[in-house]
Amino acid sequence: MSQTASPAGTADTVTLTDNRTGKTITMPVLHGSTGPDVIDIRKLYGETGFFTYDPGFTSTGSCESQITFIDGDQGILLHRGYPIEELAEHSDFMEVCYLLLHGELPNPKEKHDFTYTITRHTMVHEQLSNFFRGFRRDAHPMAIMCGVVGALSAFYHDSTDIEDPKQRMIASHRLIAKMPTIAAMAYKYSVGQPFIYPRNDLGYAENFLHMTFAVPCEEYKVNPIIAKAMDRIFILHADHEQNASTSTVRLAGSSGANPFACIAAGIASLWGPAHGGANEAVLKMLTEIGHKDRIPEFIKRAKDKNDSFRLMGFGHRVYKNYDPRAKVMQKTCQEVLSQLDIRDEPLLEIAVELERIALQDEYFVEKKLYPNVDFYSGIILKAIGFPTSMFTALFALARTAGWISQWKEMIEDPVQKIGRPRQLYTGATKRSYVPLDRRG
Ligand code: SDX
Repeated sequence: MSQTASPAGTADTVTLTDNRTGKTITMPVLHGSTGPDVIDIRKLYGETGFFTYDPGFTSTGSCESQITFIDGDQGILLHRGYPIEELAEHSDFMEVCYLLLHGELPNPKEKHDFTYTITRHTMVHEQLSNFFRGFRRDAHPMAIMCGVVGALSAFYHDSTDIEDPKQRMIASHRLIAKMPTIAAMAYKYSVGQPFIYPRNDLGYAENFLHMTFAVPCEEYKVNPIIAKAMDRIFILHADHEQNASTSTVRLAGSSGANPFACIAAGIASLWGPAHGGANEAVLKMLTEIGHKDRIPEFIKRAKDKNDSFRLMGFGHRVYKNYDPRAKVMQKTCQEVLSQLDIRDEPLLEIAVELERIALQDEYFVEKKLYPNVDFYSGIILKAIGFPTSMFTALFALARTAGWISQWKEMIEDPVQKIGRPRQLYTGATKRSYVPLDRRG
């Protein structure tokens, strides 16, 4: 890793003064290759006895990374320097996985070998299917994903030694390769159909769609339009800097936990409706709105401080401009629906009208609330044939590439140590135990 410090002797610094004592502390400013500089506060507590306080980490950089850069004001998203729009247009998910893991786009041989390796890791241990039978058929697919992915730790002992680079890479390949198989199995289990094995003659997205929608009774041909759209949706969800689930994976990994357990922790965090669960919540919201005429009623609720309702798929901690992924997703949505000859999809009409109205409303303009990656994704996934309950599982499938790349970067970062934040304590100060017979 290489923070670009200022030229020798001209180090930039920030000085803090405690106005109660006049004491000061000077801390170095570290510069990245682009984006905000950071104040290196690692010595703050040791030299001043102060903690910083930043619930939700709105102003905190948790690590140094070279994987993904976001400029929230400009609506820019780069993976290893490549704009998401260009990757979505010209690349494919296997290339993006390689790029996130290794830092460069693969040459033809590297791409062939990587794809070959991933393809041949898509099968899961046959006993893993026994875990599914312990769930009710109506179990949420994310509950199954949390459980089964965590259980992978019990099957792949030959790739859990995180000190061994070879084992780290095998675990990374296994997780990227097996997530589609496990997600498809979760879907098959929920509809009472037999599991379909992966096939080595199919591409990544095509294989996933085949495992999801094929049945043993007849040949299933994957629609190439849908396979291309699925692959692009995976690209759009692959990684996104230090979001809640990625930070969860990094924190879990900082204790030395094995990568399978860390990814299971990331799945759990992604499930929340404020994060990856939003795509499922958007579809439920659009369905509840039901007609364009009811949009004002929901906009009013979203603005009402006394109403917990929020416009799902809108707003973002970092983007204070349009989420570039949402733009690509909307374009893909319209392409897929027209290529599938799905006209007048009412949910799309409601979504487009909702976006139009919201973006003209001063509440949303003033708070810089724009559609995010989740706003349009559900409409495409519904058109492809997925039940709403599978939407977040698909997000987790794709995000595994980012999670495992960030986990690998953390493990290989020489300054990484176990994550252990402190707190502002406002609870009871020291007091003596009161025996039961003397309590009122
Ligand atoms: C993802 O971090 C990532 O990168 C995540 C992600 C990724 O790829 O990993 O991009 C994926 O999680 C996208 C976000 C999906 N979530 C949703 O669509 C749920 C709806 N959005 C909100 O819950 C919210 O916008 C968050 C959680 C996304 C962001 O929350 P923040 O940054 O903590 O912002 P906030 O809650 O402080 O909101 C700021 C203001 C508040 O009003 P005030 O208290 O200042 O008066 O904006 C309001 C909020 O009430 N607000 C909304 C709103 N989002 C924020 N009001 C109505 N509807 C909304 N959607």
